[in-house]
Amino acid sequence: MNRQGNPRSNQGWHRGPLTQRHLLAAGAAAVALTTLVHCGGSSSSSTAISPATPTTSYTNSVDTAAAVAKAKATLAGMSVAEEVQLVTGEARPSSDTVLSAGYVPAISNSNVSIPTQYLGDSPSGVGNGNTGVTQFPTAQSVASTWDVDLAKAYGGAIAEEWSGKAVNIGLGPAMNIIRLPYGGRSGEYLSEDPYLAGQIAAHEVTGIQAKHVVATAKHFALNNQETDRSGVDVIVSERAAREIYLPAFESCVASGVMSLMGSYNRIAGTYACENPHLLTDILRTDWGFQGWVMSDWFAQHTTMESAQAGLDQDMPGNEYSSWGMTAHYGNLLEAAVTAGSVSKATLDGMATHVLTGMYQVGLFDNVVATPTAVVSTAAHRAVGLQVSEEGTVLLKNDNHVLPLSKTAAIALIGPGASFAVNSSVGGSGAVNAAETVVTPLAGISAVASNVTYNQGAVGAGSLPVLSASNATVTTTSGGATAGFTAIIRDANGATLSTTTTTSVNSNWPNSYSSDVADSWKADYTGYLSIATAQTYSFVLRGSGVAKLLIDGTQRAKVSTTSTDSAYVDVSLTAGVHKVEVVMDTDSYSWPSGFFGPSAPTLSLAWNPAGSYITAAATAAAAADVAVVFLGDSETEGNDHSAYLSQDQTALITAVAAAAKKTVVVLNMGSPLILPWAAHVDAIMDNHYGGEDLGTAIAALLFGDVNPSGKATVTYAASEGQLCGQTEATFPGVTLGGDDHLTVTYSEGINVGYRWFDQNELAPLFPFGHGLSYTSFGYDSLAVAPASGDGSKVTVTCKLSNTGSVTGKEVAQLYVGFPATAGEPPRQLKGFQKVALAAGASSTVSFDLDSRSFAYWGENGWTVDPGTYKLYVGSSSRDIRQVGSYTVK
Ligand code: BGC
Repeated sequence: MNRQGNPRSNQGWHRGPLTQRHLLAAGAAAVALTTLVHCGGSSSSSTAISPATPTTSYTNSVDTAAAVAKAKATLAGMSVAEEVQLVTGEARPSSDTVLSAGYVPAISNSNVSIPTQYLGDSPSGVGNGNTGVTQFPTAQSVASTWDVDLAKAYGGAIAEEWSGKAVNIGLGPAMNIIRLPYGGRSGEYLSEDPYLAGQIAAHEVTGIQAKHVVATAKHFALNNQETDRSGVDVIVSERAAREIYLPAFESCVASGVMSLMGSYNRIAGTYACENPHLLTDILRTDWGFQGWVMSDWFAQHTTMESAQAGLDQDMPGNEYSSWGMTAHYGNLLEAAVTAGSVSKATLDGMATHVLTGMYQVGLFDNVVATPTAVVSTAAHRAVGLQVSEEGTVLLKNDNHVLPLSKTAAIALIGPGASFAVNSSVGGSGAVNAAETVVTPLAGISAVASNVTYNQGAVGAGSLPVLSASNATVTTTSGGATAGFTAIIRDANGATLSTTTTTSVNSNWPNSYSSDVADSWKADYTGYLSIATAQTYSFVLRGSGVAKLLIDGTQRAKVSTTSTDSAYVDVSLTAGVHKVEVVMDTDSYSWPSGFFGPSAPTLSLAWNPAGSYITAAATAAAAADVAVVFLGDSETEGNDHSAYLSQDQTALITAVAAAAKKTVVVLNMGSPLILPWAAHVDAIMDNHYGGEDLGTAIAALLFGDVNPSGKATVTYAASEGQLCGQTEATFPGVTLGGDDHLTVTYSEGINVGYRWFDQNELAPLFPFGHGLSYTSFGYDSLAVAPASGDGSKVTVTCKLSNTGSVTGKEVAQLYVGFPATAGEPPRQLKGFQKVALAAGASSTVSFDLDSRSFAYWGENGWTVDPGTYKLYVGSSSRDIRQVGSYTVK
């Protein structure tokens, strides 16, 4: 809020003569634009830079110049009102059967006929409540395959389903850098590394757009946290932005993506959707983007500023005008053009960008009139299954405990193995499954002969309606009405509503109002009747401040901006016990926007203690191996704790102590801290593997498929290793007069493994790590030429399968810069996934160009002369071959 009063509004990311010195509060380097400079010593020369990291390029029957020409010709036949309509979302008429997140009606007059725009979620399949669609594994899962062809196939399969549902603009891929393990949308994102994220995203884009669906690269940019997402101000150096946070978008632009979605947050005081440095200097001038930029939903705050900064389209525009939420474009834009505060040329530019994207991807020639009921196909599910198999990362496998024998006695444990399986993210990224999700329990039971199942824990996700066995809860002591009395209060304690509920599972009390008070309170009171004395386990999960009181005594508390859990055992005597949950969001809530709140959430569940954990540990002790499913659940709008829920930690601790062998299967969007990892034998991370995840996990556990996924993030050994250990660096602090947070990325370019390498920290599992049931040897590294200007370098290496089964390896190339560049020790600049039969070899080859050796210096992209180390290996910490290249 309070943009005008923000003292930083005239610094940093703004346009005009000061563009060359966008020094930001983190104190970093200044900006120049596209020139690549070789400098150092007395020699200094300029050369053309590759525009972005190498990618495949999107090809269509129409080239972009032709698309621009067609767009301009169409524009000539449109009125101002029609141009405004093209760039403003509207409510979908009730007669329209397409389910989408955004809608722009068709425009037709005697000169032009422009198809309807249906904008549909999201990164891992068709969302917005559509059915008959494939629930694909998450984006994090496809990135973990490190297979660009599979990423392209994944994009293509999703786009075929979008198209079948008449959606012609897909709201993905999402590619914000996973900065910390707290992020509520990590499962929708790809990696902590810009090169990997860029490669995967760009290939997805090519797959999507080849099916005549416009891809949307989101959320542009620096939207790396959900806490206060609609207002948080990100302070980042230009260098870190250019080297870490922007390249994935840049790669997509280089690959022909036709749409970008501006993010909710601010950057150095200016909202992303009205940020001229981002939307014009970088996107248009530096990268040459020809398509259009839409706002994230309600992320736009102004008319003139946004139009002038380079925001082309307002989403969802007027869709919710019946609720008093009208577009910043629409009538306001038309009035601004009439008044001259937005020039006609600016409006023409905006409309041209939309039309160019639509022509470029073929939307005019591929209009789908009505949605098809079932668009999921066997071929799409096969892509999803392959992604789930190859995107699962085998993090640990001591003494080759895996693969398991199909006749072993297996104690399967965890809610995530059956009823609470996490196969998709929440929020706008949620996708329905075409068929019943194949749970791990179903997938494993289908192939193994000796399986028992125990729930083990309450687990993450929405907690069940009161499920206490041998207990009842009533609204009054000894009363007849089941459930709790819930009183929702405003910030001053005044009652907003009183209801009876059988589930303490509350969310923003008035989720469709942007006028909700900054904070709210809720009291839930119920009376638990117990027949015999017993210990109960209570799990409280939520964000904000929530306390659990039993018979007036506080027993558990959650106090966080991010989703967290508290777990407590309480011995209760036979009789009636008062159970209260008191929620007060006071110091932990931020002003909301539609779809953009950090909504405090709360769930309470319980079970008689021991009935889950003790039974699971007993079953584990009796089996040959315990396979325990643990996980979190993620949704936009909320960050989360760096740990699994407390009851799951208690479960794995008890099972690992009891079992002969323990295998953990994780389903997480973020690389959470796993303090118990040393006590288990094997760990794999499936990253929410879509509707066929049970089949995929079974194939991996029993060795029918050899694991080949690699970590796209670093798994820290402890929270203390992470950057972002002060409130100022995560989730931010409120500064002088600003009612939103300001977060400072003081780690600069040292994000993810760069941070760990730079600070010589030993992570639990490093970036790029992933085990196989076979082994691989690397030799014969060659660099050609050995020196030059860096514009074309080929690195080759022989890769051999030295084990006894067929497998796939991802060979990774990291560049170590000379000290003058001031870069962290190693940076990924190439990778290749190769399938090899046992005993077979092949040569992997990496093409590097000047961008591989460049950093963002005072004069823009810069290559220092000197010796660059070239590391080839199996992970960022498992380097097998080292060579070098000299930039003269
Ligand atoms: C999300 C976007 C999504 C949009 C439309 C927003 O809340 O941030 O990722 O595409 O809603 O559903």
